[in-house]
Amino acid sequence: MISSVCSFIRLILLIAAVASSIAAAASIPLPGRKIFDVRSYGARGDGKTDNAMAFTKAWKEACEWKGFPRVYVPFGTFYLGGVIFTGPCKSRISFIIKGTLLAPKEANAIKEETWIIFRYVDYLTVSGGGILDGQGSYSWPLNNCRQNSNCRALPMNMGFQFVRFSRISHIRSINSKMGHLNFFGVQNFNISRMSIRSPGDSPNTDGIKIGLSSNMKIDNVDIGTGDDCIAILSGTTNLDISNVNCGPGHGISVGSLGRYKDEKSVQGITVRDSIFNGSTNGVRIKTWGSTSTPNLVSNFLYKNLQMINVGSPINIDQQYCPTSNCNYESASHIQIQDVRYNNIWGTSTDKVAVKLQCSKNFPCKGVELTDVNLVHSGPDGPATAFCENVGGRTHGKIAPPSCIR
Ligand SMILES: *[C@@H]1O[C@H](CO)[C@@H](O)[C@H](O)[C@H]1NC(C)=O
Ligand SMILES: *[C@@H]1O[C@H](CO)[C@@H](O)[C@H](O)[C@H]1NC(C)=O
Repeated sequence: MISSVCSFIRLILLIAAVASSIAAAASIPLPGRKIFDVRSYGARGDGKTDNAMAFTKAWKEACEWKGFPRVYVPFGTFYLGGVIFTGPCKSRISFIIKGTLLAPKEANAIKEETWIIFRYVDYLTVSGGGILDGQGSYSWPLNNCRQNSNCRALPMNMGFQFVRFSRISHIRSINSKMGHLNFFGVQNFNISRMSIRSPGDSPNTDGIKIGLSSNMKIDNVDIGTGDDCIAILSGTTNLDISNVNCGPGHGISVGSLGRYKDEKSVQGITVRDSIFNGSTNGVRIKTWGSTSTPNLVSNFLYKNLQMINVGSPINIDQQYCPTSNCNYESASHIQIQDVRYNNIWGTSTDKVAVKLQCSKNFPCKGVELTDVNLVHSGPDGPATAFCENVGGRTHGKIAPPSCIR
């Protein structure tokens, strides 16, 4: 009896010893892992000191490190002037933001078109639960882009230029001066678990802007802004958008396209399993009615989308004109084809819930509606659909009744 108690105790001790040696092994840093804490480079989280130099130094050393470098921004408010984090780097690199990065109030204090830029980097992770605060409320009243098409673009919050095999997650972006996140020349990039917010009446505050980029995923992102929740521009291919909450804002938009020469096609876009709440549009494709370089917009799938009090839930507009003085020399030269809308339901605040207004010279081809149920409750009666120069098919139940032939 006594000996069996003893052996039981011995067993317990043995288990404890093994467990503690496992714990000790786990706390030994991985070879090559190194944290580049911005405070070691002179950064101060006091909300006043300009930390641009300190952040840039931390990035440079981390970028040169062979192993597993992590740039680390702890809790605190770090005032930061415009910065460019340039690669290529020697290894996979992480940029962890726990605290808040605070932009200058003055737009002129930022020289580039974007406040925080990552450029020529592969295998980058930006994460950490922190906040990017663009302090846009100081510059919104100065924005005159509605009246002046040559207005100076104000800096966006964060930009990724020629970045590949990378991701951003668990970051909040608030009150950008113009757009929040900008992607240009990016390949294989995932955006997930983000919150992006500016007031619904702040001018040109696009949530996510993407151009000349391919193989991107956007998942689990909450966006409320004063412009497009997501703007998909020239040269974007293979983009998968899911589980997005959009509103307020102007919806998930392709374009505008057809205003500039040498634009590239936009192909292979999926928007699925998302909610639009109080946005002025749901899913929209907008092209100017001008004779720019002919171009193709094709192979789209819009699926499982709920619309809650959305202005124009389904919208193709090939006579896009945000101001009243557009000069249409002719019909749009953008060919839109193979666009499928599948299981789209909810409420529309405009009477025209489905608007498919295509180009006279390049009518839309292969537009397919399956199971659409959009309701307009207002004094001006039930929802309607509007079609111009559109060819395609319908399946299942369609309300308002389809006008596609
Ligand atoms: C993006 O997410 C997909 C899975 O959803 C994964 O297979 C891929 O490796 C991710 N890419 C990057 C660059 O993190
Ligand atoms: C839609 O937005 C309204 C107003 O912000 C909010 O009260 C409501 O909970 C939202 N609905 C959903 C389903 O998210």
